[in-house]
Amino acid sequence: MDVQSIRKQVPATRKMVYLNTGWDGPSPKSVVQAVKDRVEYESFNGPTSPPVYQSGREIQQNARKAAASLLNVSSDEILLTQCTTDGLNLVLNGLDWKEGDEVITFGLEHSSVLIPAYLLPRRHGVRLKVLDLNPTDTHEEIISRVAEAISPRTRLLFFSHIQYTCGLRMPAEGLRKLTKDAGVQMLIDGAQTAGHIALDLREMDCDYYSIPGQKWLLGPDGTGALFIRQDLIPSVSPTRVSGRAVASYDEHGGFQPSTDTMDKFLLTTSSAPLAAGFVEAVAFHHQMGSHAVEARTRSLAGLLKQALSEVPGVEILSPTDDARSCGLTSFRIEGIASTDAVNQLWNEYGIVVRPVSELSCIRAATHAFNNEEDIQKLVSAVTQLTP
Ligand SMILES: Cc1ncc(COP(=O)(O)O)c(C=O)c1O
Repeated sequence: MDVQSIRKQVPATRKMVYLNTGWDGPSPKSVVQAVKDRVEYESFNGPTSPPVYQSGREIQQNARKAAASLLNVSSDEILLTQCTTDGLNLVLNGLDWKEGDEVITFGLEHSSVLIPAYLLPRRHGVRLKVLDLNPTDTHEEIISRVAEAISPRTRLLFFSHIQYTCGLRMPAEGLRKLTKDAGVQMLIDGAQTAGHIALDLREMDCDYYSIPGQKWLLGPDGTGALFIRQDLIPSVSPTRVSGRAVASYDEHGGFQPSTDTMDKFLLTTSSAPLAAGFVEAVAFHHQMGSHAVEARTRSLAGLLKQALSEVPGVEILSPTDDARSCGLTSFRIEGIASTDAVNQLWNEYGIVVRPVSELSCIRAATHAFNNEEDIQKLVSAVTQLTP
């Protein structure tokens, strides 16, 4: 991987040590250019003139194809969304819940998982089981905890493929096997995976998977994609509807619902400039290669964990073995609150990381555009913040 050339294409790398892609990634120039070009094209050539309108539709289709290529699924199973949370809500609120149905999730989860899940009992009489999850849990422990929690009423297991607090990579394949055997569906939050680890949803035999464009994919804010496996599309009802939700309707209240395509979830106007940026982001990712990106993010995180472990007063919370780790590294510095440390790292060293309140820690995300010097700068700054 030619890191130097990748860095040249990501302008933020010239100004700071950016280690917060797990929140929002800095776009490469090609993404920014695609968004700008399309905004200009639409405005200067009339947004509804036939060539502009037609090319806008093509861009939306290309964005669906781009997401499908990333996830190894069909573009008919993809809906463009505005973020991960958008897709998660769409599935969770669109399923036909019965009183007493059970949903399983984990206490350590992101609020985009927890809050939509917490509302299910109130809205639909669903029973929610929130299982313990710790950064140190092994895959076997997680799988056996879920196995114990599954009952004949369990309909859905809902979790993040990578835990945002600490980078714990969940045993998605093992959980799939377990849930498949038990007739339980899985809704996966892929906020921390797309553009970070190689994904093959077909091989994983996935039911529902939601990803963002703005994080590891380095796309624009306001982009994302939801996958629903083809045979499950009819069982998810749109909760926000437009004319696209029906196959036909008349002036007297009559209509024929549209059940079997992702288009039923579409509303009306959507942004072709953002979709154009998303297409470029996926192209940039493919140029680097999914497996190469995954290997590099993990190896940089490995370097960071190793170096931080040698600094007295630093505690590392993220797993270190290959199966459970990724490009997210969470750590605490003795004697300093994580929010203060994050502020100091920015104000005094020009380093962007984030605090994670759930674990009172600091999280650094190492993407392929980061380099060894970024790691050294962070480690040296952290060393100076220790007591
Ligand atoms: C696990 C997880 N889920 C959901 C989100 C929210 O993502 P989005 O803004 O794409 O909805 C995040 C953001 O950090 C996350 O880490």
